[in-house]
Amino acid sequence: MQVLSTLAILPTLALGAVLPAALQSGTKIIKRDSWGGSVSLGPTKSDIINAVTTLIPGTAPSTQNGELFLWPGMSNSTGDLIQTTMESWASNAWCGATTGQWCVRASIFGSFGQLDGTGSPVSGDDQVRIEYNLLSDDNTWVQTVTNAVTGAALSNYSYPAGPYMTGYGTGTECDDDCTGTVAAQFYLNTTITLREADTTFGDTIATGAGATYTGLSSSEGGKVWTIATISVPAMGSETAVASSTSTATAHATPVATTVAVAEESSTVATSIPAAASGAASSGQQSQQHQGHQGQKGHQGQSGSGEQECF
Ligand SMILES: *[C@@H]1O[C@H](CO)[C@@H](O)[C@H](O)[C@H]1NC(C)=O
Ligand SMILES: *[C@@H]1O[C@H](CO)[C@@H](O)[C@H](O)[C@H]1NC(C)=O
Ligand SMILES: *[C@@H]1O[C@H](CO)[C@@H](O)[C@H](O)[C@H]1NC(C)=O
Repeated sequence: MQVLSTLAILPTLALGAVLPAALQSGTKIIKRDSWGGSVSLGPTKSDIINAVTTLIPGTAPSTQNGELFLWPGMSNSTGDLIQTTMESWASNAWCGATTGQWCVRASIFGSFGQLDGTGSPVSGDDQVRIEYNLLSDDNTWVQTVTNAVTGAALSNYSYPAGPYMTGYGTGTECDDDCTGTVAAQFYLNTTITLREADTTFGDTIATGAGATYTGLSSSEGGKVWTIATISVPAMGSETAVASSTSTATAHATPVATTVAVAEESSTVATSIPAAASGAASSGQQSQQHQGHQGQKGHQGQSGSGEQECF
């Protein structure tokens, strides 16, 4: 089922601001859904036309109680959400992964629900290059996922999401009492290219729940922004986890590429903190990750959060 009201699909980015707030308020980790560390940028006064990062995801949990997602996401917080995602489900066999491996697939979330490229297995020490590129038609976004070392194609997806992307950020998303990350994640050489220079874009950077970064710099007068490293700790400590509130999100059911059609798909409730750095942030946004074939009945929570501007 796809419950995707307008509010329920609000994209998620700029996690940094809300997570510290949640921790400071004494929020305990009592909700089903929680968040690991994050680093985000936005909104830019311009718009993003290209973004590249190389994600080293760390070993996936050997067993999975819920669903765990790692991603760099890009959006304007109300429109389509571009989000290539590392996924850990109770079984990751749908993409051919073995114990300790992730499945990666390019995905986009919008009013249409969730659309995905095919999934591929990824090992913890793999370097996964994730590029989001706006084509010269100024409308089509191409997600290209490759092994940065071998060049092997892992997933891709193209969709006419339009020239509206203003924020970019990482997420470590723990749904349905997930088994959290057991290793740190690293995003290397994250490079965001804007349409026009925005010398203040770097000022919008925000971190949450123990994530750190090094080497924030810009070139071409503020048109190209680079973060040398983003480090997200494993979710083993309280400081590395923030509970989420409010609206739901869900990742769409991955359908095994080597198998026929899923008999049933289900939504998975998730919540995404969506505070925008530098923006008034009072709500959470949502998306829904659909479960893969064979996943049963994680009923999505309907979202009611307010959207963020960033
Ligand atoms: C956000 O993106 C959507 C398209 O996904 C667009 O319709 C909307 O106008 C954009 N909002 C802003 C504030 O740019
Ligand atoms: C994109 O993925 C499809 C499978 O979904 C594959 O057939 C195609 O070769 C890929 N394209 C690129 C450029 O990797
Ligand atoms: C960093 O990424 C950019 C954009 O993909 C690329 O042009 C550059 O060569 C990379 N630098 C390093 C040191 O890998």
